[in-house]
Amino acid sequence: MSLDIKKIRDDFPELARSVHGKPLIYLDNGASTLKCRPVIESLNKHYSEDAANIHRGVHFLSEQGTIEFEKSRTTVQAFINAKNTHEVIFTKGTTDSINLVANCFAEAFLNEGDEILLTTLEHHSNIVPWQIAAKKKGAKVVEVPINDQGEILIEEYKKLLGPKTKMVATNHISNSLGTINPIKEMIALAHEVGAKFLVDAAQSVAHAKIDVQDLDCDFLAFSSHKIFGPTGVGVLYGKEELLNEMPPYQGGGDMIDQVSFEETTYNDLPHKFEAGTPHIAGVIALKAALDYVSSIGIKEIEQYEHDLLTYATEKLSKIEGLRIVGTAKNKASVISFVIDGAHPHDIGTLLDRQGIAVRTGHHCTQPLMKRMNVPATARASFCFYNTKEEVDALVAGIEKTKEFL
Ligand code: ALA
Repeated sequence: MSLDIKKIRDDFPELARSVHGKPLIYLDNGASTLKCRPVIESLNKHYSEDAANIHRGVHFLSEQGTIEFEKSRTTVQAFINAKNTHEVIFTKGTTDSINLVANCFAEAFLNEGDEILLTTLEHHSNIVPWQIAAKKKGAKVVEVPINDQGEILIEEYKKLLGPKTKMVATNHISNSLGTINPIKEMIALAHEVGAKFLVDAAQSVAHAKIDVQDLDCDFLAFSSHKIFGPTGVGVLYGKEELLNEMPPYQGGGDMIDQVSFEETTYNDLPHKFEAGTPHIAGVIALKAALDYVSSIGIKEIEQYEHDLLTYATEKLSKIEGLRIVGTAKNKASVISFVIDGAHPHDIGTLLDRQGIAVRTGHHCTQPLMKRMNVPATARASFCFYNTKEEVDALVAGIEKTKEFL
């Protein structure tokens, strides 16, 4: 089945706007995706008609809000195929989810001399929380290297795994290069030595099928805003037995069972990890986003974006002086590039003047930039509402930028 792109584009009102007098060509989906009408309508409805606190009141709005909030949890559970709804924790985003695990997993399971394996491809949000946890516990962060194409060196990974490895954490898809990592194989290898595995699915949740039971990952994190939902909402999936053994992340309302000045007992999952009033409207709107993606079909999305990537790679490769950074065999629709004699920041600024939004810089992956021998790149990250015509416009925009520079 092919996608009805015209209809899909109509579902994203922002695509109809112009920037600097030019039609917007939005190629910064890796940073954040645009919002579809069902998400905007859900937020609008919540704040216009339904706003009240959840899990607390006996009044109508509170009870209805709780039902809608919990429906969203069930939708997430089905979307990632978690075994239980209480294995789905709502957080502020991927960064918050990873910090939660780094903090609480370390508290429960990490000892002096233990090792945490991370790959060169990681976003800072999947490096720094582990460094902080390792420092507290006297553990060590170990880097799993990649090749020049931006692929994890599996043989090196196997050598680094051992009895000291307590955790492996990697992204499913690299935000900077688009590499799709062989996480299923990596998870099985980690489990062979008794290590746990966290998947940073920030860049994959909107672009590839996620099945946590099939992957057998121990934790998985993603952000709502990278799958057409609101900012400030994220998901942490964790296996029940691990979440139960971990201490709470933050104290506050909702996460408690009984509180006294002598002793406090904690609530059951998932509430144990959800202290305070959450982003109620955002969580409810995330359901609208996931329902929207499901109505299109993740397999169809994957196929469309793969074709778009192939087209864009071919077109961009023909531009003289342009070099694609990250050429893994298995790639998602992300193209990072540099151009001889041009700073990525200038490329981004000149493309912006033509209405084309790309991201430039180190993409929060400084160790990766160092490994790829570039200080920064320009990055076009595509989504299923982008078209071949927009790729052509990007190519024309780059040619014009080159002339200017
Ligand atoms: N991690 C996001 C990106 O890659 C912000 O742009």
